[in-house]
Amino acid sequence: MVEQKAMIIGEETVKKYLSIEDVIDCVEKTWRWYGEGSVVMPNKITTDMSELGVAGWFNSMPAYIGPMDVAGIKVVGGYDGNRALGLPYIKANLLVTDSKTGVLRALVSGDFINDARTGAQPAIMTKLLAASTDVITLIGTGLMAYYSLLCMSKVLEMKEIRLCDISEEAMDRFIARFPDAPFKFVKCKSNEEGCRGADVIITITNANADLVEEPWLKKGSLVMTMGSFRETSFDVVRKADKIAVDQVGQSLHRGNVKELAEMGEINENSFDIRIPEVLAGKMPARTNPDDRIYTQIIGTGMLDVALAGLVLEKIEAAGVDVTRVDMTK
Ligand SMILES: NC(=O)c1ccc[n+]([C@@H]2O[C@H](COP(=O)([O-])OP(=O)(O)OC[C@H]3O[C@@H](n4cnc5c(N)ncnc54)[C@H](O)[C@@H]3O)[C@@H](O)[C@H]2O)c1
Repeated sequence: MVEQKAMIIGEETVKKYLSIEDVIDCVEKTWRWYGEGSVVMPNKITTDMSELGVAGWFNSMPAYIGPMDVAGIKVVGGYDGNRALGLPYIKANLLVTDSKTGVLRALVSGDFINDARTGAQPAIMTKLLAASTDVITLIGTGLMAYYSLLCMSKVLEMKEIRLCDISEEAMDRFIARFPDAPFKFVKCKSNEEGCRGADVIITITNANADLVEEPWLKKGSLVMTMGSFRETSFDVVRKADKIAVDQVGQSLHRGNVKELAEMGEINENSFDIRIPEVLAGKMPARTNPDDRIYTQIIGTGMLDVALAGLVLEKIEAAGVDVTRVDMTK
């Protein structure tokens, strides 16, 4: 029998072998491959444990990345009690199997991969969809917002970053993480102050509320929601000139447009711009500088599975010694 030992890859090793630039490049490529039809990805399944009084949920997100020949599944959840334990709200793990045999190839810590790929998404999307990136507003200044701005700073020219958060401390902590920022930070007293005149508005909170109102948006603006629940008034979506998404199926079941989909106002034909197809050259991104574009980034498992595959490739190429277990015996 062929011996194939599974690798156990912890967080520090993942960080050592994946740079932010690698992550942005891999996310962009994986989206493109998906747009070209060379990724298999069923919709994610949510297990909401709150039904039984456990304050958490987790998603099972499988994918097969054809061009990398990587098959795997991401298991990621949000756990309300984690902050008090010194753990991040979001916790992720990845399992990679041999695509031909199903034998376990690796268990990979998914936290840095999840955080960095989450941040890479608005960086790539903003590059494709924004009319201007001078003034960017971040509503929510937690961990995902940090990775978003970190990735955006690698690919965009930005002058002013406006911050809105219900926690003053979160905003101060956020600013302190960018000591050499080439842009200026402005802490806003209200979301309205943050949004009026902004080129790009990104919501990345764990709120379920109307954080952005349609009358605050200027011509040509880009609104991007990334949180798991509602983050704008319905009119922000209804009155947008164009609606963009990272993936169609999952966008209808989670995040900001979920309720509009449930009310029958949004369906799979409502998304004018599908980013993977834009990257595959099948449709244009922004075509008019005056359009107000609304976009939802739901986040898909193919990105994490591809990044886990990239970590494995790099570790194998470097010949590094990692913990290996023979799961076939
Ligand atoms: N789209 C994706 O790909 C993706 C990936 C991972 C996580 N998420 C989602 O991103 C969200 C944020 O995750 P995180 O890890 O950054 O959490 P976090 O706890 O680190 O940060 C959330 C921030 O939002 C702020 N906030 C909460 N309510 C607010 C409100 N009403 N107005 C303004 N700010 C408010 C909090 O004070 C906090 O600073 C979650 O909903 C998570 O499920 C999305």
